[in-house]
Amino acid sequence: MKNRMSRLIRPDTGGSVMLAVDHGYFLGPTTGLEKVGWAVKDLVPHADALALTRGVLRHDINPGWDVPIILRVSGGTSILNEELLHEGITASMKDAVRLNVSGVAFSICVGAKFERTTILGLSQVVDEAEEHGIPTLAVIAIGKDMVRDARYLALAGRIAAEHGARIVKTYYCEPDFGKVVDTCPVPIVIAGGKKLPEMEALEMAYKAMEGGAVGVDMGRNIFQSENPVAMIKAVREVVHKGATGKEAFEAFQQLKSQA
Ligand code: R5P
Repeated sequence: MKNRMSRLIRPDTGGSVMLAVDHGYFLGPTTGLEKVGWAVKDLVPHADALALTRGVLRHDINPGWDVPIILRVSGGTSILNEELLHEGITASMKDAVRLNVSGVAFSICVGAKFERTTILGLSQVVDEAEEHGIPTLAVIAIGKDMVRDARYLALAGRIAAEHGARIVKTYYCEPDFGKVVDTCPVPIVIAGGKKLPEMEALEMAYKAMEGGAVGVDMGRNIFQSENPVAMIKAVREVVHKGATGKEAFEAFQQLKSQA
């Protein structure tokens, strides 16, 4: 477990830049991820972990790449379903072990009428993952009528940790993101969410780190960037070197101009 956790969160900096490319499991062919292997090949050397599904891992990812894998093991509903995120277990722990993953990811939706199913699903995944020393990353969602504020995100993150998640992935919020981190006993990473201008995404990452997050599990703001490699490198400046959003954006512009 400790070895896998240290593959996911770098012991030298205490940070992690996870690259999320699992969107297709409920969104289908997301912009920028039409061909995942092609989209990530230049990003993988700069990612501390790659979050994806087993289908993409088997068919699109070079097994020779030395990048820790966070395997998505929840799903079951698509963007077309009004109960989006009413998810269950979609991959066995036997398959996760066979795929030699460093972590598994499961979504819970707190505040939805089906929240119980997702929380029990998380617990089952944790039971099975712990048997093999595999950390579970809980992806937090909240009911669609709820505001993504510190109160609800803290509630959802804490619930995930109480059920055994080793890492919690949540959204950044203002104000009081620090409260979400401080009341969660396990490390927190933030999702990037919808594509933002690069400066804003880097500023959000910086503020999340200031609030106590250990890093990001970021997708669209990297692979949909006008220059994905420059963007992931700029995010690394924030997460691993303590750069501010402004400093990282300057680095992004410089890297972009060198390309
Ligand atoms: C959502 O549940 C998926 O796990 C995405 O991977 C996650 O939202 C992170 O991607 P993005 O930064 O694009 O929001």
